Amino acid sequence: MSKIECRNLTKVFRLGSGNLEAIKDLSFEVNAGELVAVVGKTGCGKSSTLNIILGLEKPTAGRLAIDGKEPYAEFDYFRGKLSAVFQTDRLLPWRTVLQNATYALEILGITEVRRLEKARYWLEKVGLSGFENAYPHELSGGMRQRVGIARAFSIDPDVLLCDEAFGHLDEVTANKLRADFLNLVRETNKTSVFITHDIDEAMELGERVLVLGKPARLLMDVQVSRSIKDDHTKRGELKSRIIKAIESDEPAEHG
Ligand SMILES: Nc1ncnc2c1ncn2[C@@H]1O[C@H](COP(=O)(O)OP(=O)(O)OP(=O)(O)O)[C@@H](O)[C@H]1O
Ligand SMILES: [Mg+2]
Repeated sequence: MSKIECRNLTKVFRLGSGNLEAIKDLSFEVNAGELVAVVGKTGCGKSSTLNIILGLEKPTAGRLAIDGKEPYAEFDYFRGKLSAVFQTDRLLPWRTVLQNATYALEILGITEVRRLEKARYWLEKVGLSGFENAYPHELSGGMRQRVGIARAFSIDPDVLLCDEAFGHLDEVTANKLRADFLNLVRETNKTSVFITHDIDEAMELGERVLVLGKPARLLMDVQVSRSIKDDHTKRGELKSRIIKAIESDEPAEHG
């Protein structure tokens, strides 16, 4: 299990002749085995933060470390240790469900026998047994996301990241997928970061919710215990506080 430490992270993009500050002095921690939801309005720098965690982007300043190592600087060390489920399924259209589910394992050089075994196992876990030979275009959006989830879990990563993974699905399908995803994360004890602009989703999934301002910096860091999740009134109060923090773009008074 891995710990994520983000210290005074800043990311500035060059945009035409000017600069765009996407992340501004962002600090937070995700403890090993914890499931943290990150919420903030559109364009506030959530995906940019996730890309830095994945080692796809380099911080402009500050430090993002997983188990003391920086993903961008030590890309090779993190091969097979991080995986992500994105908003769009990012499946390869010319590959079957099974071939998509084995793809990450193939890149890691796992033998074919083991690849098929692991991919079939995870496809079954996400409820796609019987669809191994279907192509992505033959599946519903929810089923395609399930392939993405199977692919992400297949490599048994230390850290699992989700970026608006259920954002474009209907409410009923999203609820089901959320519950299934939560069970898998719990079962496997992954350190997990779930990014969303949906406050209800963040409170449902996260053991802790981080609320980001725009540009990305920490406005709120709040534990969401079972007693809050299950209590309609407490939930409503917390949601109001989160909305207030996002609207004012100021840190909340009581963390
Ligand atoms: N590669 C890039 N080059 C230039 N600007 C970028 C790049 N990536 C992101 N940005 C800018 O950084 C800001 C934050 O973008 P980001 O995608 O991180 O936001 P987000 O919170 O994920 O938004 P959404 O909720 O819409 O997905 C935006 O203004 C975006 O235009
Ligand atoms: Mg995004």
